[in-house]
Amino acid sequence: MAFKYVILGGGVAAGYAAREFANQGVKPGELAIISKEAVAPYERPALSKAYLFPEGISLILGTEIVKADLASKTLISAAGETYKYQTLIIATGSTVIRLTDFGVQGADAKNIFYLREIDEADELVEAIKAKKNGKAVVVGGGYIGLELSAALRINNFDVSMVTDVKLKDGRVLEADIVVVGVGGKPLTTLFKGQIEEEKGGIKTDSFFKTSVPDVYAVGDVATFPMKLYDEIRRVEHVDHARKSAEQAVKAIFASEHGKSISEYDYLPYFYSRAFDLSWQFYGDNVGETVLFGDSKPTSPTHKFGSYWIKDGKVVGAFLESGTPEENKAIAKVARVQPPVESLDQLATEGLTFAIGA
Ligand code: FDA
Ligand code: NAD
Repeated sequence: MAFKYVILGGGVAAGYAAREFANQGVKPGELAIISKEAVAPYERPALSKAYLFPEGISLILGTEIVKADLASKTLISAAGETYKYQTLIIATGSTVIRLTDFGVQGADAKNIFYLREIDEADELVEAIKAKKNGKAVVVGGGYIGLELSAALRINNFDVSMVTDVKLKDGRVLEADIVVVGVGGKPLTTLFKGQIEEEKGGIKTDSFFKTSVPDVYAVGDVATFPMKLYDEIRRVEHVDHARKSAEQAVKAIFASEHGKSISEYDYLPYFYSRAFDLSWQFYGDNVGETVLFGDSKPTSPTHKFGSYWIKDGKVVGAFLESGTPEENKAIAKVARVQPPVESLDQLATEGLTFAIGA
């Protein structure tokens, strides 16, 4: 099978790339998405079935690509089918790091759950229902660890969160369910030796073009220039997956029409929700920190935050329980990077500083 455009991967970036292809007027039959998942691209944060793809696009699902030959513009699936493309967008994302990767004993036991794809979410939901009011151990205190601990508590589970330090002390923790969230790693293996890599990802320019002609990389897998900090970075979050996908497709269409578009100028944006709490963070978490607001656990509002200050300027801002306007204000601060005269004054001014900036 041959297509003008192929998106390899069926995750968040693939879905948003497909949508941008439709906006740009891709013709029926020109674009294919090849994904090893059995379902169309969906919003991974919600792990819901809010499918993202527009019509007229060939969805080649349940199809894992096991070999990529960038020189001959060919992809080969596990079942031996060959797919040719003129332009390729690599959107293979990340895969979970498993306990077996650390050589942990018993890591292949039953009822150990990881969460990356929708079938894993379905299996976890089944286990939660089957072990009602049970005991859960959560390994890892990152995003998955924190968000799933809250979800398990809401389902009346008794939850213990462990770190590698505690695990090494030899204690045995009883559990009906073990959820593991110890990080992800970008899926670049198919392209090893064929493409330039940096910082664990596929190196791109500001238009997500890789070192290989007609090959783009977007989302978790791309290491790209972050203009704001004059640095090359990789970002594993949805906001960037969406925006990088849109930028790459715009760049592809612009170059086909002899036009140019602006460089990608990304402001890092992260968020999370647990119980009835919800925070947003913009910018960079480097330098000194200044805490503001009411962070007491008993606070009725839970409205507090933190600024990060580097070289006398605010470079990052975190806010818990902000309103949409307040979140907009902290985003602006992180983008504009206003100077700070006194850290004490900044702590006292708190959110007012961002709103007035
Ligand atoms: P993504 O992982 O979405 O997609 C990769 C796709 O490629 C998958 O469909 C995969 O099957 C496919 N694929 C890989 N190799 C293949 C091969 N060889 N052949 C065929 N198909 C292949 N971020 C955030 O900012 N806020 C949030 O709340 C959350 N929440 C969240 C929850 C959970 C459970 C996870 C796992 C992750 C998040 N994230 C998040 C992170 C966010 O979802 C992540 O950054 C994006 O999904 C990245 O999008 P990509 O399209 O790059 O990869
Ligand atoms: P993460 O990188 O956020 O956290 C990994 C955690 O595991 C860290 O706390 C680390 O200290 C810990 N850890 C590492 N090795 C360990 C070990 N051997 N034993 C115990 N703990 C160990 O990764 P994650 O939570 O697994 O999430 C996976 C991916 O999904 C990431 O890319 C993340 O950004 C993304 N994600 C994002 C969100 C969000 O943005 N709200 C939500 C869910 C997932």
